[in-house]
Amino acid sequence: MLSPHSAHAMTEVTLDQVAALHATPYGTLPPASPMPSRRPMSLPRLQEMRTRGEKITMLTAYDATFAAVADAAGVESILIGDSLGMVCQGLSSTVGVSLETMRYHTESVTRGLNRSQATAWVIADLPFGSYHESKEQAIRSASVLMQAGAHMVKLEGGGWTTETVHFLVERGIPVCAHLGLTPQTVHALGGYRVQGKTEASAELLRRHSHELQDAGASMLVLEMVPQQIATELTNELLHCATIGIGAGNGTAGQVLVLHDMLGLNLGKMPKFVRNFMTDAGSVRGAIEAYVAAVKNGNFPDNTVHAW
Ligand code: KIV
Repeated sequence: MLSPHSAHAMTEVTLDQVAALHATPYGTLPPASPMPSRRPMSLPRLQEMRTRGEKITMLTAYDATFAAVADAAGVESILIGDSLGMVCQGLSSTVGVSLETMRYHTESVTRGLNRSQATAWVIADLPFGSYHESKEQAIRSASVLMQAGAHMVKLEGGGWTTETVHFLVERGIPVCAHLGLTPQTVHALGGYRVQGKTEASAELLRRHSHELQDAGASMLVLEMVPQQIATELTNELLHCATIGIGAGNGTAGQVLVLHDMLGLNLGKMPKFVRNFMTDAGSVRGAIEAYVAAVKNGNFPDNTVHAW
């Protein structure tokens, strides 16, 4: 029960009554709960989870409603991925996504979270071209996303990015790195292919991962890399939580594109995705099933979803 502060208020108001006051006919989000049911996620808590071996769950979200539903379903981390280029904008790759578009979606997601539980850790992708020029350009772009509500920014690539990661982290911006298949460089890679299959490319992946951890990256997305390498890296990188997508079940956590795991991929479903909607009665139910499956090690299945 809520007690309005007005001295004239004679009656107590329930949360349902407050929700009714805010209702619109257009998918209204509930008003902010005065008492979230979970402690908000933080960088130290994510590191604690990594240390004690509790799997970290992450999903993409691009708008207020899906972000609020994912948060309520127990996802610990929400990624405003530049995959929104394909999912929301109908682009053929992430290369065309602008910083302004990322800012718009980051604001939408954080508004949705603030209207619900607001417990998830929020990561926003720095889009193609927004950090490639210089460290100074990277911090200007990262500031736009942090001021839009992100807690952390993600950037792709190794080697040349190490200095940028160090520069951002030193200035108080948490960074998630992204190696393996890096979609922003799809044209250079020659397609969406598994990375790190040759001894030389696996060695480069290892070197870049260690350099990024040393530069201060506290998370590392490993996309479409052989499960054995991802597991080895997870055991080696004690200060950086690996988050796999098509990297087997040995990583510290998992991420999927929300629309893919809800069966809304209208093209060919990637090998590393499971459709959690098939056995669920609702979107929230599907996300809860994903969280449970990642936590208890049932997803991903190395014999089906990995290389
Ligand atoms: O943009 C995105 O959604 C991503 C995930 C695939 C990790 O980077």
